[in-house]
Amino acid sequence: MSNNSDIIKKRILITGANGVLGSNLAMFYSEQDNIELCCTAKTKGSNSSDISIIICDITNRDKIKKTILEFCPDYVINAAAFTNVDKCESEKETAWTINVKSVEYLAEACRAVDAHLIHISTDYVFDGKQGPYSEVDKTNPISYYGRTKLASENALKISGINYTIIRTNVLYGAIEKGKADFVYWVVQSLENGKDIRIVTDQFNNPTFVEDLVRGINKVIEFKRSGIFNIGGRNFLSRFEFTNMIADYFDLNKNLIHPIITKELNQAAIRPLKSGLVTLKAETQINYKPHTIIESFEKIKSKIS
Ligand SMILES: NC(=O)c1ccc[n+]([C@@H]2O[C@H](COP(=O)([O-])OP(=O)(O)OC[C@H]3O[C@@H](n4cnc5c(N)ncnc54)[C@H](OP(=O)(O)O)[C@@H]3O)[C@@H](O)[C@H]2O)c1
Repeated sequence: MSNNSDIIKKRILITGANGVLGSNLAMFYSEQDNIELCCTAKTKGSNSSDISIIICDITNRDKIKKTILEFCPDYVINAAAFTNVDKCESEKETAWTINVKSVEYLAEACRAVDAHLIHISTDYVFDGKQGPYSEVDKTNPISYYGRTKLASENALKISGINYTIIRTNVLYGAIEKGKADFVYWVVQSLENGKDIRIVTDQFNNPTFVEDLVRGINKVIEFKRSGIFNIGGRNFLSRFEFTNMIADYFDLNKNLIHPIITKELNQAAIRPLKSGLVTLKAETQINYKPHTIIESFEKIKSKIS
């Protein structure tokens, strides 16, 4: 006879635990009985959650090593990154240090305790000429952010550790933590009678953050290595996505104005025809993303 105390718990360490993905991962794993959790972040953060955070700046090689050696995780999930795509163009050194060097440090520490590193990457490793992309399609980043993320993938490929790269795109649905979220922003803007300009020429499959968390957990459950795409079920333009939000939440669509990406004059070039085919994850790890409408139902219950 075994009792609960006999069950060997999986040890999971999360980096960037105050971020959009990191905080959702932290919440998910803090509710699982079979997990020993260690949440780390650059600062304590301002969220109201009672999940305790260990300070660990992932650019600090010694601190990473100490934190990982002390906790001795089975899995490290790297949800920390320099994610401001436009700032990556003007702050290249910082972007490289956080997005590439730190991943090398994490891999080094994971090697020392034989931990499996799950690293989050992006569809921005592609040029957006012929998406949606599968895991084996040729990469060709067109922004500095995309270059750093591809370099981080390459660092893992030569690291000799057990790793999984999860590529995802356009996260939404993170409102619980009060983080910037596209759906929440659209709802708030339209409710307040604000005009919004939305691009018609960027296509992808937006990812409900809850689906990404469950996709990552499936990788752990199925003990899978290599590259997996985790994205949403529906492929559409940002403009179409915004109109779906307005329809679902019964808001004034006349406030949504179509523009093209060039009009935004952003520092970083965006992949236009992008998105990620999730067939591999669906067939190999039983990944089942919500439809957009299903995700809106869940979001609605949180914001109303
Ligand atoms: N959001 C998307 O649409 C999207 C799409 C594709 C891929 N991804 C990838 O998904 C992952 C998670 O993204 P996200 O949306 O959750 O990003 P996020 O909300 O910006 O969170 C990133 C977190 O990393 C932390 N961080 C930055 N520098 C750090 C450092 N030196 N040490 C420790 N932590 C540090 C940030 O802390 P501070 O805020 O304190 O700096 C922040 O909490 C990233 O790898 C990103 O590239 C995201």
